[in-house]
Amino acid sequence: MEKKEPIKKNQEIAKKKNSISAEREKIFETRLTRHMDELKWLYMELYDSTEHFESLLNNLEQFYDQRKAELKVLDKKREQDPGWYRKNGMLGMMLYVDQFAGTLNGVREKLDYIKRCNVNYVHLMPLLDTVEGRSDGGYAVADFRKVQEKLGTMEDLEKLASECHKEGISLCLDFVMNHTSEDHEWAKRARAGEKEYQDRYFFFDNYSMPAMYEKTVPQVFPTTAPGNFTWLPERQEFVMTTFYPYQWDLNYRNPVVFNEMVYNFLYLANQGIDVLRIDAVPYIWKQIGTNCRNLPQVHTIVRMMRMIGEIVCPGIVLLGEVVMEPDKVAPYFGTVEKPECHMLYNVTTMATTWHTVATRDVRLLKRQMEIISGLPSDYTFLNYLRCHDDIGWGLDYPLLENWGSYQVPHKKYLNDYFTGKWEGSVSRGELYNEDFVTGDARFCATTASMCGVEKAGFEQNEEAMDAAIQTDVMLHAYMLFLSGIPMLYSGDEIGQVNDYTYKEDPNKAPDSRYIHRGKFNWELVENIDKPETVQGKLFARLGQLEEIRAEEKVFDASAGFRILETWDDGILGLVRESEEGKLLGLFNFSDEFRIAWINEEDGMYQDLVGGNVFKASAVGVDGHSFYWLKRKDG
Ligand code: GLC
Repeated sequence: MEKKEPIKKNQEIAKKKNSISAEREKIFETRLTRHMDELKWLYMELYDSTEHFESLLNNLEQFYDQRKAELKVLDKKREQDPGWYRKNGMLGMMLYVDQFAGTLNGVREKLDYIKRCNVNYVHLMPLLDTVEGRSDGGYAVADFRKVQEKLGTMEDLEKLASECHKEGISLCLDFVMNHTSEDHEWAKRARAGEKEYQDRYFFFDNYSMPAMYEKTVPQVFPTTAPGNFTWLPERQEFVMTTFYPYQWDLNYRNPVVFNEMVYNFLYLANQGIDVLRIDAVPYIWKQIGTNCRNLPQVHTIVRMMRMIGEIVCPGIVLLGEVVMEPDKVAPYFGTVEKPECHMLYNVTTMATTWHTVATRDVRLLKRQMEIISGLPSDYTFLNYLRCHDDIGWGLDYPLLENWGSYQVPHKKYLNDYFTGKWEGSVSRGELYNEDFVTGDARFCATTASMCGVEKAGFEQNEEAMDAAIQTDVMLHAYMLFLSGIPMLYSGDEIGQVNDYTYKEDPNKAPDSRYIHRGKFNWELVENIDKPETVQGKLFARLGQLEEIRAEEKVFDASAGFRILETWDDGILGLVRESEEGKLLGLFNFSDEFRIAWINEEDGMYQDLVGGNVFKASAVGVDGHSFYWLKRKDG
């Protein structure tokens, strides 16, 4: 009897193993079967290559096999709760690893602070291998599978991801898919003349094709990196470089590029990343005679990535970086049956918000809110006031023209306002990529500097400082109220102002976006518990709003969202409504006391911040102040 025991045990183990692998196959097969027809159809339409398609499928299975058990558990959980990333408690923060905590391990040590900020979704700015000085803030990736040495290792990233998961925090990473750095192995081999690698980019031995492209393709960085091609003297060839000259555009007409980039995407997903920010995605397909933006093939590729994610790692969320005019953005959600991105940046709302701060006139913002509220509630926007990039003034100019504001002078007005040239402006900041031909320019600064914290601090003007904090809090209250997921910009929670030291670094000096990418100031964090300080005031007030948001289920992204007429062009009125209740938001963008001429006759309302209960009828709102009003039950 006793001797037979080990055999029996082995048999049991073998049986268990078999059933695990059968289960594994079943899960993978089921997910694959669900998408197979469409995936194959789209792939063949684009690449017409069975060989490459099969190789893709084999690799998908391998990435699935390599996915850690704990991630598979998470996948399953999220498949059963597909709205997991749209919950009311979701609050994001984007940060630079080096500026925030030096290294990835440093970030791990600061998780307590991140939790204290009520944040449960952290976007780590680009951290993959890149060459200093030719890096575009990390958006020129030299190796998709290696972390920048100064920040740590892939193991550190995995460790951070797993620690974050224990704390209920999700991690977001950039997936820079339009280009590689010229220091990436493919680019090096292409430069050395290997045809196979040249085919992964766009090479031209004379300027005739580039000249044809240039006729219709706009410029992303007209001042800092003019043109869309770069001459390689050692090759006597041109290479396509939509962004900086050291960022070589990948050629997605080549199935090898698509397959290999999918493997890089899955590799990162398997490190435990929850949200993949697909960077500059509208640019990935090029076609002569077009503007090379948002072409239909881009949508085919994003749709394929979505399906591939759902097959291999369904716990993953795709966040599309589509910094485009409004009618180009929403199509990246795909359709309800054939979704593409899970989440998109609410870029027009962001730009329109700052327009409203400058003009103190909410009419354009109201129009934007109307558009957003007309979209299906499955569409989830990522809302933000500031991010690591500039603010491009992408507004609805045809509408503005009806009100007498024309594009060129209006952009000039906004830039003058925010650089502080305009009488009465409290903002400070700098222009970005001023195009002397078109007269166009974008703008860079931190939220606090744009709200007046920098100016008031410099002038040691307490009254002005309180007003600046008030504006800053109102804008956050409004951002937190919007439909979707709010994203804070690290440093905003303590009112960090512009950092002008980038001018001393020759690698950064020409790019004014570094003005709002400064070192996180931990000394200021020491003030967050001191109510008399700027940080104490801001941190506590934002914290209160975040906590309310996390408690009130009506902030879930699935809630109805619409505009509320206030009959005052200074006050924006919004409503959120679901079976969890009804909430009114009143945001006074003007600097004086105004009355929101609303009249909600369905009961009493409670001010969620101040606690008072009153009728939602002709509500007076102080300058740059706001209300979150919740209808009382019964
Ligand atoms: C995205 C990034 C931006 C970068 C560009 C090129 O737009 O947000 O910072 O310069 O892509 O990769």
